[in-house]
Amino acid sequence: MPRTTIVLLLAFSAATLALDNGLMRTPPMGWLAWERFRCDIDCENDPKNCISEVLFKDMADRLAEDGWRELGYVYINIDDCWSSKERDAHGRLQADPKRFPSGIDKLARYVHDRGLKLGIYGDLGTYTCGGYPGTTLDKIEIDAQTFAEWGIDMLKLDGCYSNATEQEQGYPLMTKALNATGRPIGYSCSWPAYQGGLPPKVNYTLLGDICNLWRNYGDIQDSWDSVLSIVDWFTDHQDILQPAAGPGRWNDPDMLIIGDYGLSIDQSRSQMALWAIMAAPLFMSNDLRTINSGARAILQNKVAIAINQDPLGIQGRRLVKEKSGIDVFWRPLSKGASALVFFSRRSDMPFRYKTSLKALNYAAGSYEVYDVFLEKPMPVLKDTTEFVVSVNPSGVVMWLVLPSTRWQQGAAHLSKKPTGPKFYQRQQLVDSPFVL
Ligand SMILES: *[C@@H]1O[C@H](CO)[C@@H](O)[C@H](O)[C@H]1NC(C)=O
Ligand SMILES: *[C@@H]1O[C@H](CO)[C@@H](O)[C@H](O)[C@H]1NC(C)=O
Ligand SMILES: *[C@@H]1O[C@H](CO)[C@@H](O)[C@H](O)[C@H]1NC(C)=O
Repeated sequence: MPRTTIVLLLAFSAATLALDNGLMRTPPMGWLAWERFRCDIDCENDPKNCISEVLFKDMADRLAEDGWRELGYVYINIDDCWSSKERDAHGRLQADPKRFPSGIDKLARYVHDRGLKLGIYGDLGTYTCGGYPGTTLDKIEIDAQTFAEWGIDMLKLDGCYSNATEQEQGYPLMTKALNATGRPIGYSCSWPAYQGGLPPKVNYTLLGDICNLWRNYGDIQDSWDSVLSIVDWFTDHQDILQPAAGPGRWNDPDMLIIGDYGLSIDQSRSQMALWAIMAAPLFMSNDLRTINSGARAILQNKVAIAINQDPLGIQGRRLVKEKSGIDVFWRPLSKGASALVFFSRRSDMPFRYKTSLKALNYAAGSYEVYDVFLEKPMPVLKDTTEFVVSVNPSGVVMWLVLPSTRWQQGAAHLSKKPTGPKFYQRQQLVDSPFVL
């Protein structure tokens, strides 16, 4: 594709409308219980890890005290298996009284007191995937009202035990019901994942109008195979998915499993880099009480987060798929910046990949490069300069790229220790669009 076409396509996606609740103008970040803690309800034998208010208070404390909140990880989200098996006498959902003795409203207050936001899980259907009471069409309003009264800030609405007709009616009805509560509640729809994730069954224009984010594809599991299958599906279908994303409306490739059991350090960097390039929501599902320092450093990488949170909200794309097993991803950022990810699918040894910025569609000029995981600036590159990146097996090299002239004013921030996710303050850079 000629590069002007790519730019126009990308620019157009950012201009589309979004769900009118004003939320999630950049991809939401936080912590979500499911992948790591599933439906463990055995609080007698596993009190620290079961789905209970103890778990969510512990994680809220960690988010607030260990530097996560300041980086943007502000949502703490409950998933399935939180509720009682029965609705109450008024037909309202209620938390399991043994595992959430204080109730969800008190938990919401606890979370809010720490500067965080509380998310909850529901399912448009007769049951949740775990067999708890579902939100059938006639229960949509009462459940939205209940969540709002509790002080909930985000709802993930799953789709088990519902059919296509009910989904087509139910997902937009929940948008209306949430809006009618008057409380801004971020809305994550699992709808496309239940319809194969692709048109004609899935209408991404409609999804962007009614949901802040949506799960397109199957659940992530704690393995590299799972991460890779998700990356493959999202890149194979990027022509459909990439234009669907923008401020307030995001494709969700599912949780970050960095800090769990399935990924090496290199694979963890790959997940972080690729999720950042894809403008994906960053919901960690791990144990923040025991996470190791290597995983923490990757998840707290300020430049990777800044790339993910870029205010233009343009999802990146795979530009190149080499026979050698190297893929190159690119994402345009505000103020003329961009991000590149060199990703290796190889399983032998670090691969020395040779290319130039010109070969990657960059315009004539000089560019300064910051290596995101080495956390240091690289020598200035001319567009025509051939360079070699050494990419580890199943690993990445991730770069933040700025045109040299614009860099001058922003570079000081990079050579100092970054102090926050917006450290490469964009107003420091010359305010002109990046012309490829
Ligand atoms: C409800 O929708 C209206 C218009 O569509 C919007 O202005 C308002 O902010 C929304 N309110 C909430 C709480 O989402
Ligand atoms: C979907 O479920 C409803 C019951 O809620 C039923 O009336 C309808 O026939 C079902 N539609 C399909 C296409 O299976
Ligand atoms: C998709 O949804 C949008 C917004 O509701 C609508 O205008 C459009 O006609 C739909 N497209 C198809 C192919 O149904």
